[in-house]
Amino acid sequence: MNKKVKLLILAAIVIIFGFILNFLLASYILPADKTLTYNWEFPTNSAIYTTMFVSKEWDDSVDTVGAQYDWVICNTTKNDVEKWTVSFELPEDTYIDSIWNVDYRIVGTTVELTPLNYDDVIKAGSDQTFGMILIGKDEFVPGPVNIGYSVIYSATSLPLFPIMCFLSFLWALFFVQILSEERIRRQERARKQQDKETIIQSMSTFINFIDAKDPYTKGHSQRVATIASELGKRMGLDSEITSHLYYAGILHDSGKIGIPDNILKKVGILSSDEYYVIQQHAIIGGHMLEGFTAINGIREAAMYHHERYDGNGYPEGLKGDNIPLFGRIICVADTYDAMARDRCYRKHLSKEKMLQEFKDNSGTQFDPDIVKIMIAMVEDGTAEKLTAKL
Ligand SMILES: [Fe+2]
Repeated sequence: MNKKVKLLILAAIVIIFGFILNFLLASYILPADKTLTYNWEFPTNSAIYTTMFVSKEWDDSVDTVGAQYDWVICNTTKNDVEKWTVSFELPEDTYIDSIWNVDYRIVGTTVELTPLNYDDVIKAGSDQTFGMILIGKDEFVPGPVNIGYSVIYSATSLPLFPIMCFLSFLWALFFVQILSEERIRRQERARKQQDKETIIQSMSTFINFIDAKDPYTKGHSQRVATIASELGKRMGLDSEITSHLYYAGILHDSGKIGIPDNILKKVGILSSDEYYVIQQHAIIGGHMLEGFTAINGIREAAMYHHERYDGNGYPEGLKGDNIPLFGRIICVADTYDAMARDRCYRKHLSKEKMLQEFKDNSGTQFDPDIVKIMIAMVEDGTAEKLTAKL
């Protein structure tokens, strides 16, 4: 899983957690019951407040004064409010003559007003009206007013909600971007795979020309390529280099195209002149592949796969690590295939004999680090399994 997908999943978890927290805040955590007290000064700066005004007044006799008081309880918050109460002190010589839209009870000198239906809700941004007629000896002058109410927090009214919505929007953008990147990557992978197949098919077609000249080596190039790329993999080379190793293995003997048939196909012992001509396939291959710069190591593999680690190989007699890596790897893979297959002049070698050959020639013919891996591949049967059907 790549880093961006991990980040996407992490962001989704954070956002889901944020929404859950928002819901918990709204449902359980935030204190719902609130009270406030104010003197009768029309405290419109409060989120919940009442207003009261006198709509009618009359003076029936010299002893009593009556008035109709219309009240409004306003909810300017973003949340609905329920179970509200309004209480205030009533002077001793004043009584409630009539009241509407609200229940009331009097405890001592305190009047407590509650909605007719206690569960009635004052919606966010709305209000409720009620009224009463008070009659008393003197004009009623309201004192401190207490309002108690219970807030119904809705998840959408909390500040966390728009933040989480915004984060969700960003997440969705990120998700779309990842999707489109993944689509491009998939197309790129498909194109690379197609390119790879084109390269392998082109190379294999070319190798068929060599196989037609030298039937004894039929399938040799594919087997060497397979063993070489497995060696590369076990040496910890990255996948691009191991695929280059495969191509290098395919083309390592391409110089044989320039060797006369009568020498290449000769059954029996070669004369020293003929042997010299055969050796030229390395140089011919190196020159042929000089322009093949798109794949690193192709030329080196063809040119140097017959060099020996002790410097006694050909064509240049390079020694040790001076032999290019692809040359050293192909040399081991090439020798394995030569030993593992029947040739016109001998049968294939037994597993024990092959292992002995590799051990005996480690550090002389072969790079000891590479041959160690080859020995492991022979011992565990990987080399045989990989090349069985090629
Ligand atoms: Fe060769």
